[in-house]
Amino acid sequence: MLESCEFTTTTIKINQLSCTVICGDSREVLKDLVNCANLIVTSPPYADARKKHYDSISPDEFTDWFFTFHNPFFKSLLEDGSFVLNIKDKVVNGVRHRFVWETIQALSENGWYAIDDYIWHKTNPMPGYWPSRLSDGWEYCFHLSKTKTPFFNREEVKKPIGEWSKSRLKNLSEVDLSRHNSSNESGFGRDISKWVGKSEVSPTNVIDLPLVGKNKNHPAVFPVDLPLFFIKLLCPPGGLVIDPFGGSGTTGIAALMAGRNSVIIDNNPEYCEEAVSRIRREISNGKGSVWFLPGIEG
Ligand SMILES: C[S@@+](CC[C@H](N)C(=O)[O-])C[C@H]1O[C@@H](n2cnc3c(N)ncnc32)[C@H](O)[C@@H]1O
Repeated sequence: MLESCEFTTTTIKINQLSCTVICGDSREVLKDLVNCANLIVTSPPYADARKKHYDSISPDEFTDWFFTFHNPFFKSLLEDGSFVLNIKDKVVNGVRHRFVWETIQALSENGWYAIDDYIWHKTNPMPGYWPSRLSDGWEYCFHLSKTKTPFFNREEVKKPIGEWSKSRLKNLSEVDLSRHNSSNESGFGRDISKWVGKSEVSPTNVIDLPLVGKNKNHPAVFPVDLPLFFIKLLCPPGGLVIDPFGGSGTTGIAALMAGRNSVIIDNNPEYCEEAVSRIRREISNGKGSVWFLPGIEG
């Protein structure tokens, strides 16, 4: 599909996997990538942020601007594919602007199913003082898809059950041995006996991760573990992940670590260059100790 690509393209190949960095406007680049992606995971320019570094859109115009990406994103995804949007709203004149909610609403009215809202809980938030609010400690990760049953593999994101289970599951009471429904008729219930003998459980939709500390020659880098979580959950092994606001290439690193192919797009040539060298550097260092990947080619 990319053979005749008119954009500057660099492909990093490792074993059977590829990570292609493409320099261009993702709305244009994605015209060559129709019906092929299992997952789009990305973080766009936030409204009114980082004006010195790249195009920044005012909160009032954000929904209309973001909507110009709706068609290219929708068309590039496979039918059971997913779109994960990491984003944060902002305070304007002392009040939270709702452009993020408005954007999700506009996408929902145009064919996307809003499957779930994940929260990235920052375990090391920036300190600060505001007279009427506390410091921001989280961001949204919206999971959207083309069907109500997108590819979903919870097995890959399971985590250790935790020390608490050793004592709690040792002596189960009468109540613990059957399903216990919530007394407020909410429909929620639990059967704690199902956890006996298990070493791993599904995580919740709150993802605890620290902010990236080190400078990656890009002003807004998200942690590798953020796209990695969604790649494992929403893209099958060997599948294709696209990041249409690729920045420093974080999603490309995560995809290679997870054994998935990727296309990383950014319209700034300097960030594309940085992405290529960062991906080569971090993957050859065995980043994240998930994989050691020898034999990197340009
Ligand atoms: C928030 S940053 C992404 C950072 C990335 N998640 C990382 O970890 O490095 C958004 C990026 O979108 C890029 N961008 C803005 N408009 C774009 C467009 N129309 N097409 C492609 N990239 C775009 C900017 O250059 C910027 O690098």
